Amino acid sequence: MSLALTPRQKWLVRESFASVCEYSDSVVVLFYGRLFELAPQTRDMFKVDIRTQARKLTDMLTAVVDALDRFDQLRPMLLELGQKHTGYKVQPEHYQVLTAALTWAFGQALGGEFSRETRAAWEQLLHAVSAVMLEGARS
Ligand code: HEM
Repeated sequence: MSLALTPRQKWLVRESFASVCEYSDSVVVLFYGRLFELAPQTRDMFKVDIRTQARKLTDMLTAVVDALDRFDQLRPMLLELGQKHTGYKVQPEHYQVLTAALTWAFGQALGGEFSRETRAAWEQLLHAVSAVMLEGARS
């Protein structure tokens, strides 16, 4: 799966992520709240405390956003991460829930700055990340 984001979409992702990072603590709380509301069965999958988990997710998203121009280089890491997620009992359909919860939380934090176009760029990015992770999960 390649990353078919236009230069403008990459710019929108970078700009919005920089803003999100300013509110990262509250965004993360909103995100997990929404995830557990949309898919309550995922709550028990998390064994580490949510703060630790939140940091891992934020670090990974930072790595992805930093690598938008060389997405292929992330492949080995994302394949391995996807494989790990089968061990956490994460199902393929949960990836869409994660995308919905994350873009919802970004929208809450950024308001009007999180335009429809920015949301679409994030959905496309998270779809590409999920596709590589799911490939790893199947291997
Ligand atoms: C864009 C997709 C995703 C990314 C980038 C991501 C990122 C991560 C990272 C970096 C870790 C830490 C791995 C480690 O400690 O080595 C992790 C763990 C975990 N993720 Fe994800 N994840 C994604 C999707 C999901 C989904 C869809 C679910 C299910 C709702 C999920 C649930 C978990 C769980 C349960 C853990 C383990 C927590 C623990 O150690 O207790 N992840 N994820």
